[in-house]
Amino acid sequence: MNSIAGLDELLAEATAQLREAATNAESLEQWRIRYLGSHGEVKALMQQLKDLPPAEKPAFGKRINEIKQELTASFKKRKGELTTAGPAGKSAIDMTLPGTPVSIGHKHIITQTIEEIAEIFARMGFEVAYGPEVEDEWHIFDALNMPASHPARDPLDSFYITDSVILRSETSNVQIRVMESKPPPIRIISPGRVYRPDTVDATHSFMFHQIEGLYVDEGVSMADLKTHLDQFCKAYFGHGVATRFRPHFFPFTEPSAEVDISCHICAGDREDCPVCKGSGWIELGGCGMVDPNVLKAVNYDTEKYTGYAFGFGIERMVMRKYNIPDIRILFENDVRFLRQF
Ligand code: DAH
Repeated sequence: MNSIAGLDELLAEATAQLREAATNAESLEQWRIRYLGSHGEVKALMQQLKDLPPAEKPAFGKRINEIKQELTASFKKRKGELTTAGPAGKSAIDMTLPGTPVSIGHKHIITQTIEEIAEIFARMGFEVAYGPEVEDEWHIFDALNMPASHPARDPLDSFYITDSVILRSETSNVQIRVMESKPPPIRIISPGRVYRPDTVDATHSFMFHQIEGLYVDEGVSMADLKTHLDQFCKAYFGHGVATRFRPHFFPFTEPSAEVDISCHICAGDREDCPVCKGSGWIELGGCGMVDPNVLKAVNYDTEKYTGYAFGFGIERMVMRKYNIPDIRILFENDVRFLRQF
């Protein structure tokens, strides 16, 4: 190789090798020995100079010097790149540097709340049970003491899949499923999704979550219901919270009540309170003593057993606790909102 073209080929090859093969201190040194070393390729070409015809010598000599300088400069630059990427002479990765944090996400506030509620009730001896979201008329209506004429069965209040198959509008179907599967004592809570053909606004959604509770045994009374719910509300909302029952009607409980908690935002002192509207109380959900007709539907002995049940909206609890003004924000999946929990 004694032509100028041969020199240019060497330059191209050495430059490519430097990029591709010299990736750490060791391979860079091998590259230096191969091209710039005292027995390297540049040196070998220089030695050919003396054998060239005198007319070719100046141009060849000039070009080979340029190439040597260029490769030396490229070598230094590459060395600089490799050493700034890691400790000199070692791998380009510095294992002692702190890692880049990887965002792995976390549980949605609704899921966190379900787990928190389940934990509080677990301390009172309640297990978690689940039931189907697509349900037949027996489990969602008939067995819950809602006769065929009951208004809650109106297609305006529930999503019907067929004439007799319904997307559940409450978690109360799980009461029936659990009682059918085993004899008393029963102590369960059941969290889950429910669906209603409601127009979406700040406090309504066509899908939301409820937590159902059921306790059936000998001698279960309204006092147990009130005590347990009061203990639960204090554990979840804070010890300063008071609870009260207001008489109400549900087909599956008798007597029935709605449960309120005292307003933690204004303690009843503000007429313009956005949460309790000045009443000092916030509605949580419904409850009551299981209607004997419901116990009969699952063949429980109503002379021997009594029970209580309750059902709360989970979004409502979350909104109360964290003062969230609009239910829709819980389902929009805006990470700026979700990250706060
Ligand atoms: N199922 C009722 C609703 O969705 C809530 C409810 C009220 C559940 C009273 C109960 C209960 O278990 O006893 O509005």
